[in-house]
Amino acid sequence: MSMQSSSIIIRGLGSYIPKKQLSNDDLAKIVDTSDEWIQTRTGIKTRHIASMEENPSDMGTQAAETAIKNAGLNKKDIDLLVVATMTPDLPFPSTACITQAKLGLRTIPAFDISAACSGFLYVLDTVYHLLRSGPYKNALVIGAEKMSSTLDWQDRTTCVLFGDAAGAAVLSKVDTPNVGILGSTLGADGTDPSILHMPAGGAACPASAESIEKRQHYLRMNGREVFRLAVRAMEQATRTILDQFDLKPEDIACIIPHQANVRIMQSLGKYLQVPEEKIFINLNKYGNTSAASIPVAITEAHKQGRIHPGDYVILVAFGAGLTWGATLIKWHS
Ligand code: COA
Repeated sequence: MSMQSSSIIIRGLGSYIPKKQLSNDDLAKIVDTSDEWIQTRTGIKTRHIASMEENPSDMGTQAAETAIKNAGLNKKDIDLLVVATMTPDLPFPSTACITQAKLGLRTIPAFDISAACSGFLYVLDTVYHLLRSGPYKNALVIGAEKMSSTLDWQDRTTCVLFGDAAGAAVLSKVDTPNVGILGSTLGADGTDPSILHMPAGGAACPASAESIEKRQHYLRMNGREVFRLAVRAMEQATRTILDQFDLKPEDIACIIPHQANVRIMQSLGKYLQVPEEKIFINLNKYGNTSAASIPVAITEAHKQGRIHPGDYVILVAFGAGLTWGATLIKWHS
């Protein structure tokens, strides 16, 4: 890869987890499931659920306040805002616009990116290139999801898997070469959206008495198929980005995968031949929080001292679409 005179670093991180917890035992009172089944099949112990008043823009605002503070910046320094979400506050306007107002940011450009659980990596790559080539210096990026609003609480095959959260990062252009985000690889295959989708509520099937009666406004998934494709897509994305930078899996200090299922993350580690202790896992506490999972996980990994200056870190994700991606970071000092 060519030498660059400037870099894009993750300058500040923040996360927000709603207060209310829903344990596996709580779920067993709602659907025919058990703590034992959920833990052995997924690794999830509990998840957090947003209140009626708490929307993705509210959770994103909280995470962003922390990220801006940790970056040592003021709100007036932020000149771009991009939000990854598959559960926007409203079909339109964007959750980014609503968040911009709640944060009291200037009238900077603000938009959403929809790539489901890969959303945060799609945002990182888009913003990386905008910061490199555009007039922007400091961008605020957020992953915020209220998955609980999309779940069919009568369907045990899906409602046990997800949770609500938000994570945020401030990305800044700095004059040091070859640190921070080194590059990303993204991909998508839209040939069979029904593997993981919400059938109604969009322009193709607007809300109607019939769509409600058929329970089409909920997330639907072929779990086994997603599992199979996820492991393959994440392994390939990781290898692609490592190859681009002449690195090997053993050069990586920490892999932060999208948190969907502990068995998916273990399989990824096995195929890449990376020891388990290098794979960051916090899924047990939060379930799958879609686009929020990676920014929440980086925030925690950093706080726990799992990432050091000079470390190579891989972020890797897959999600509905299908979409996938991997980002390589050399952590800045
Ligand atoms: N509690 C108890 N039993 C359950 C259950 C639950 N919550 N959900 C499903 N089951 C049952 C099924 O009905 C099935 O019963 P049957 O054999 O009598 O038909 C049995 O458990 C096995 O189901 P199966 O779907 O084969 O389980 P699995 O080992 O594949 O695990 C998932 C299911 C969903 C946990 C797993 O496939 C998975 O994690 N897939 C990926 C999903 C994902 O990551 N999605 C997000 C993408 S970003």
